[in-house]
Amino acid sequence: MAIERTLSIIKPDATARNLTGKIIDKLESAGLRVIAQKRTRWTREQAEAFYAVHQERPFFNDLVAFMTSGPIVPQVLEGENAVAKNREVMGATNPAEADTGTIRAEFAENIERNSVHGSDSVENAAAEIALCFNDEDIVG
Ligand code: CMP
Repeated sequence: MAIERTLSIIKPDATARNLTGKIIDKLESAGLRVIAQKRTRWTREQAEAFYAVHQERPFFNDLVAFMTSGPIVPQVLEGENAVAKNREVMGATNPAEADTGTIRAEFAENIERNSVHGSDSVENAAAEIALCFNDEDIVG
């Protein structure tokens, strides 16, 4: 099994409800290590750049408004099969379809306010990590 890195973001709906620690506990309990982390608030430009792949989607403007509405906690996670492992712990994008015990099943409010983001491939993880962190802020 490969040791991978992935980008996780705790979203504004979760920081607003003080769920940061509970979410990190689920990630760490699954064997993922937090090797970079910060609490920040995105500008509109940062959110648009991060989600550029979705710019033609009908939910794009709402998504950018939501992701800039409050603090977020981007973090780099490292571990065996970290990309798939993080997505397993997060659960399906739509919390109504997320497996019991996953972050989204327990904490998400709806398909947009779904508490966490996770990269969907090793290649996208590298690009998303580079958008959020400098190399010297990642300490494995
Ligand atoms: P995320 O994994 O961060 O990737 C894109 C985000 O768009 C997604 O989580 C949701 O927060 C948001 N979103 C809103 N509506 C939809 C939708 N219909 N399908 C997929 N993602 C959506």
